[in-house]
Amino acid sequence: MPSAARLARRLEDWYRACSRDLPWRRHADPYAIWVSEVMLQQTRVQTVRPYYLRWMARFPDVGALASAPEDAVLRLWEGLGYYSRARRLHAGARVVLARHGGELPRTAAGLLELPGVGPYTAGAVASLAFGERVAAVDGNVVRVVARLRGIDATGAALAAAVHTVASALVRAARAPDALNQALMELGATLCTPRGPRCGECPARSGCVARASGRTAELPRPAARPAPILVHAVAALARRGSRVLVGRLGADAPRWAGLWTFPTAEVRPNEAPATAVERAALACGARVAGVRRVASLEHTVTRHRVTLDAFECRPVGCTGRAAPPWVTRRWVPSAALGELALPAPHRRLARAALRGDGGGALTRG
Ligand code: ADE
Repeated sequence: MPSAARLARRLEDWYRACSRDLPWRRHADPYAIWVSEVMLQQTRVQTVRPYYLRWMARFPDVGALASAPEDAVLRLWEGLGYYSRARRLHAGARVVLARHGGELPRTAAGLLELPGVGPYTAGAVASLAFGERVAAVDGNVVRVVARLRGIDATGAALAAAVHTVASALVRAARAPDALNQALMELGATLCTPRGPRCGECPARSGCVARASGRTAELPRPAARPAPILVHAVAALARRGSRVLVGRLGADAPRWAGLWTFPTAEVRPNEAPATAVERAALACGARVAGVRRVASLEHTVTRHRVTLDAFECRPVGCTGRAAPPWVTRRWVPSAALGELALPAPHRRLARAALRGDGGGALTRG
């Protein structure tokens, strides 16, 4: 097995020669690196690229982000998912402006104090932007290191062992940013979960998993919790050309701050039409004439959701929203594009906007 210094050197040389040209790698602006690292959590490079470019054009620095309204921030994030990342980035920018004069803290320990910054993001920003010798361990890095060193463990033991190796590598490296990026890059391009391209790997000669024929086994997967099946309904309540939407409060269990059609989970033994009426009422409208028009499936974290959409007609109004909604509005269908909607509701919105009552959606 090669020493940490030798392995680090091979990885760094390979990174310098072979890495992809990505927009956030072109300069060492700490804010830009922070934005990219938050976007890249649980999201692929190809997906992130256009979002990153739009974001940097609209919010080029901490000050621009800090002074933006939350609606604008969420609208720009729409489609990337895990919206709490956007809200925390926004909150983090406000803290950086208020407490640090607009300059990001230069160490992982300092960065960890910011809202939404965990050990991975802190390590990535501190090493890539400021050259601190700290590890940045995400899922890709876990896979690469577990294979290179043959770490046969799961859960916390796997995380701790990987962290130890990654820390030793970054301490032994010539340049901490190149070393950390090399581990990420290797995981994204060659050392992939299935079918790793070991023949092209700069560390192939010292890789324990390769030598023992265990690349398919390592790292050992964590036990996956069973998915939770959810049946939900959405009310497409129309009044002329307007449609009813509500804005979720900061305490909503998901999609906080975003707009949705009135939605409810169907309770055991409850008729879906009753759940639709309940949902609409929570957004301040009594409805009748409930008629199912479409159905779609989506997944949110562990929840596998069947979302049935129902057209309905308002017959009365309570005028106020109840939790999890904080505001409700009758919005012209044509203006739905200005609101931040989560992906499944955007699909419903597109159908509503065309006025086809959801006919273009997958019928259940
Ligand atoms: N995934 C996480 N961070 C990354 C980065 N800086 N470049 C490419 N992929 C990444």
